[in-house]
Amino acid sequence: MHPDLDKILLTSDEINARVKEIGAEITRDYQGESVLMVGILRGAVVFFSELVKNVDLDVRFDFMVVSSYGSSSVSSGEVRIIKDISQPIEGKNVLIIEDIIDTGNTLKNLKRLLLTRNPKSLKICSLLDKPSRRKVEMEGDYVGFTVPNEFVVGYGLDYNEKYRNLPDIGILKPEIYQ
Ligand code: IMP
Ligand code: MG
Repeated sequence: MHPDLDKILLTSDEINARVKEIGAEITRDYQGESVLMVGILRGAVVFFSELVKNVDLDVRFDFMVVSSYGSSSVSSGEVRIIKDISQPIEGKNVLIIEDIIDTGNTLKNLKRLLLTRNPKSLKICSLLDKPSRRKVEMEGDYVGFTVPNEFVVGYGLDYNEKYRNLPDIGILKPEIYQ
């Protein structure tokens, strides 16, 4: 275990098994359709990479970089688009791939923005969900695991851009971020 972790919450084996299930669910739900899978950089990269291998459909990839605060690029509502999807989404099935739903602000605002572009459908797939922290109403259509109100890292999730490469998801020692 990484020395900065208090404990492992989800092992890479547990995560990958669940990711297989979600991939199968997506494959069933979109049968006969094409899907534009949009990964939210950078946290969703590891999840995205594992998930797409388990989706047996006509899939295209795209990526976005968004921020709920800070100062960059075009601001739309509460969400700042730092890098937008590189194609029109009108009439397409769009599936957003995110690492975690925390307060819900990012995805709620992103969803509102993308809906103005008239996709055929728009769904959210998040590896983790921390419902105890929710500030706005926001539910993922596909959720891997519900996690407690702790700061978690690994499998793409970071603290100050560190720990994204850890294969497991763990709880960071409080002294690391206090
Ligand atoms: P929201 O707008 O509050 O839902 O923010 C979601 C974003 O906050 C995620 O995409 C993560 O980048 C970050 N985040 C929230 N909770 C955690 C955590 O426990 N570990 C790492 N990143 C987190
Ligand atoms: Mg982050």
